[in-house]
Amino acid sequence: MSFAGKQVLLGVSGGIAAYKAAEVVRRLVGEGARVKVVMTAAAREFVQPLTFEALSGQPVACRLFGPGTQPLEHVALGQEVDAVIIAPATANLIGKLAAGLGDDLLTTVMLAATRPVLLCPAMNDRMWDNPVVRENLDRLSARGYQVLPPASGDLACGAVGPGRLPEPELIVEAAARLVTPQDLAGARLVVTAGPTHEDLDPVRFLTNRSTGKMGYAVAKMARRRGAVVTLVTGPSSLAAPHGVEVVPVRSAREMLAAVEKHFDAADALIMAAAVGDYRPESLAETKLKRGKDHLEVSLVQNPDILKAVAARKGRRLVVGFAAETGALLAEAGRKLREKNLDLIVANEVNRPDAGFAADTNEVVLLSRQEPPVALPLMSKEEVADRILDWLAPRLAARRQEEPGG
Ligand code: C5P
Repeated sequence: MSFAGKQVLLGVSGGIAAYKAAEVVRRLVGEGARVKVVMTAAAREFVQPLTFEALSGQPVACRLFGPGTQPLEHVALGQEVDAVIIAPATANLIGKLAAGLGDDLLTTVMLAATRPVLLCPAMNDRMWDNPVVRENLDRLSARGYQVLPPASGDLACGAVGPGRLPEPELIVEAAARLVTPQDLAGARLVVTAGPTHEDLDPVRFLTNRSTGKMGYAVAKMARRRGAVVTLVTGPSSLAAPHGVEVVPVRSAREMLAAVEKHFDAADALIMAAAVGDYRPESLAETKLKRGKDHLEVSLVQNPDILKAVAARKGRRLVVGFAAETGALLAEAGRKLREKNLDLIVANEVNRPDAGFAADTNEVVLLSRQEPPVALPLMSKEEVADRILDWLAPRLAARRQEEPGG
């Protein structure tokens, strides 16, 4: 949870997209953030402060003067938080920020703010195309604001074009990067996830219970920490993490080809996929018919992807997973050595709160030199972060050792 223990100030200005800011608050709170909302007068024409108060669990700040205001709130608010998000940012607000005006609470807070700012413009497409808006945004970018460009699509005025507020998930991802140390910046990671499908006939296949949650969590958290991520995924119903290159595959052999293709340019491989160990020896061209009392399917072994690429890993770091139903540490230790890995993430899979399909996992990190690290039950995103905590300093050290590094 990138936002655990973090405070975020969300400024909402007066566009129709103000309703989407409610979902931004919900998601931030869900990720553990404390969210303080500041609304402009125009924003309050679109959405009631009560909506934000209910979602954030905190009073919404609206006014500079008058009853209920705190004397130095405008100075304190933008300094005591970890990041500021302005969503939606109207052309009017952008103009006032660029000019350095402070004629209401939000603009005054922004004049005194010292924390990183994510600005999410949303407006009519003609306003967005107006050179004065662009110049104002350029000025704010030059001052260090991060600007999330609007999406294209149907606009409230009936036009179709650029100007829509990006989806809340995208806003939260961009904000997550503001509050997350970029300790994987410049690192290229290949992550695998999900099950494989091994075809038996045109409609049937062999697979396993993997959903892809662990690998997708690793891809998402690595991207938040600044890595360039390629996610090679077997069939999964999960949404692609934002900002990650997704390479969909079905079988173990397709996954091997995709991993081999991307491994050369990578600094590390994290192999969280549950690769099918066997596939049917032959693929029936037509659907197998019922009728026989016994049907035998002959299986042949799939390539061990991890072993194949780790054998020629060079300076790359290679992380594997070991899903076990007994003798956890002994089995994981054996795989660590046999597959030439740098780290193996071992977990018991015969329990409901860990392993396949669960949102949580309880793992032991086993590396070559250090003693095993047994982690308590935690979310898969937290497990992903612990794996990346192990990886990041080692990748940085290797980069330092490189000529010119
Ligand atoms: O040997 P075992 O299947 O338990 O090893 C698990 C690790 O090896 C996982 O990281 C998995 O992604 C990887 N693996 C692989 N190719 C296979 C089987 C497993 O890369 N055919």
